[in-house]
Amino acid sequence: MSKRIEIASVSKRFGRVEALRDVSLAVEAGEVVALLGHNGAGKTTLFRIMLGFIRANGGTLSICGEIAGSAAARRAISYLPESVAFPKMLTGREVVELYATLKGAARGDAGKALEQVGLAEAADRRCGTYSKGMRQRLGLAQAIVGQPKVLLLDEPTSGLDPVSRGEFYELIAGLARSGTAVLLSSHGLSELEARAERVAILRKGRLVADGPLAALQKSAGLPTRIRVRSTAGGAADIHQRFGGRRINGASVEIACAGEEKMPVLAALHAAPEPVADIEVMPPTLDEVYRYYSLGSNVEEDRS
Ligand SMILES: Nc1ncnc2c1ncn2[C@@H]1O[C@H](COP(=O)(O)OP(=O)(O)OP(=O)(O)O)[C@@H](O)[C@H]1O
Ligand SMILES: [Mg+2]
Repeated sequence: MSKRIEIASVSKRFGRVEALRDVSLAVEAGEVVALLGHNGAGKTTLFRIMLGFIRANGGTLSICGEIAGSAAARRAISYLPESVAFPKMLTGREVVELYATLKGAARGDAGKALEQVGLAEAADRRCGTYSKGMRQRLGLAQAIVGQPKVLLLDEPTSGLDPVSRGEFYELIAGLARSGTAVLLSSHGLSELEARAERVAILRKGRLVADGPLAALQKSAGLPTRIRVRSTAGGAADIHQRFGGRRINGASVEIACAGEEKMPVLAALHAAPEPVADIEVMPPTLDEVYRYYSLGSNVEEDRS
């Protein structure tokens, strides 16, 4: 497979702020990669370097084998910025036609793009009358018009309702199936479940994770919690035997590593104390995201 985006050891400083440090990331044709990170982690900066809006202080970036920022690289790339604004007097169709022309795509492609984002009916209304979610959809339409080789989307689902988010990810999957390489930034892992093949996480300008969601969940090694509810006042005995913490009079919560889950359940089953119910809670995606994003996994490096 060909690498559509290749970022190698990229660093960027803004005065004393180290926005990116030694970031390497590649996205292949047909791949959807989600770039996550806290506010100020460096996501938008990375996009802006890929687009050639600003220059990196170190490292190399190529888009479809061309140097990022070159005319050839710019032609291959489409972008949805994190805040979109269009001239209010233009209709949705006029906006997308304008972008189609700028990209050298056929003006007629605008109608298809508007339809794909669910704006066909509102296409001939002035975009100044659009709701926030409709403006976001219009931003998407201008990004996808002309079937770009590389699609960069900076927080594309912000402002979209849950159903629209689902539709958005279906649309992106369709584009990827026809060969587009997609890199999108987002703020939460949970909405990406089963939607992004790969997740990359930036923390304070460094890439701290890059892999399939399941692999990140595993390597985070966060504990599984087992909540045991006892009958007949057995909670104190369960607590004494298994440790954990008392939740209320009747329940105990035991935290264990994923691989210890079955032995703990077997021991609970065999225990003489009466057990009324057991609830097993694996780490949530939000916990996994916090683990990487807030950084209990990486050494602080202030050098
Ligand atoms: N033009 C600039 N001048 C100075 N500092 C900048 C500039 N652009 C970005 N920064 C700084 O670089 C860091 C990374 O910012 P960036 O916008 O890339 O973060 P982000 O991950 O996109 O955050 P958010 O989730 O809030 O959009 C921040 O500390 C920011 O203040
Ligand atoms: Mg940003």
